[in-house]
Amino acid sequence: MARTRVTTPRTGRRPLIAGNWKMHMTHLEAIGLTQKVVFSLTEQDLDVAEVVVLPPFTALRSVQTLVTGDKLAIGYGAQDLSMHDAGAYTGEISGGMLAALACAYVVVGHSERRALHGEDDDVVAAKVRAALRHDLVPILCVGEGLEVRRDQGHVVHCCTQLDAALEGLSAEQVRGTGAGAGGGLVIAYEPVWAIGTGEVATPDDAQEVCAALRSRLAERFGPETAEVVRILYGGSVKAANTAGILAGPDIDGALVGGASLDADEFAQICRIAADVG
Ligand code: 13P
Repeated sequence: MARTRVTTPRTGRRPLIAGNWKMHMTHLEAIGLTQKVVFSLTEQDLDVAEVVVLPPFTALRSVQTLVTGDKLAIGYGAQDLSMHDAGAYTGEISGGMLAALACAYVVVGHSERRALHGEDDDVVAAKVRAALRHDLVPILCVGEGLEVRRDQGHVVHCCTQLDAALEGLSAEQVRGTGAGAGGGLVIAYEPVWAIGTGEVATPDDAQEVCAALRSRLAERFGPETAEVVRILYGGSVKAANTAGILAGPDIDGALVGGASLDADEFAQICRIAADVG
């Protein structure tokens, strides 16, 4: 099938497509899905775009064994971690445990954690620190609900969440030593009203907030840091809307929910990102 090349100016940041599987996939299903995604993509796709899967905790060890055993060019990570490193925290998973499974990434502050598990900005900030302590790259999610968007408060809301989560961090912590495996953090703008609703933000909506987040990073940590931090969009991303979203010069990839459970659809999103890159 002919590919559509998106005429985005190159940013110097490697596109990142991360599949947040949420509470789907047993460890056996996870192996099948990961294999299918990787085998649907060319070496070049996987070289240009960084592709990451974020399975539930119970599938991480299986995905690790597959990825390392078959030397697959795909990354993986977790959807959450504890703010604590060890102790009597029944049900929790620490950053150290994720690092021991060679996870590269961990989602922090997803709106579902904020809304359904009462995670406030302080908890999110503590989890960002916990991830960094264990050399995991946090994928820090920010995003406004529908009311805030209707009141035009979205930029302020997202920048406030960003400020709170990054409070007290140094520019080096935020930037790492470069994109990808070099540490630092990734930011994901996920408007709550666009998650799982089929209602994707327009490319302009997404670019507006991602640009504002980058400006905020520049104000707080300097332009060199803001230039290398990758900012993703998430919320009803599908193959059909990926090119438009990724055309935004401040949008470096996508955090994909539902569409990441379909290997063909997810692979197509990754191919489009590779073409942008
Ligand atoms: P959907 O792509 O299903 O809207 O989910 C987005 C999301 O929450 C990714 O973290």
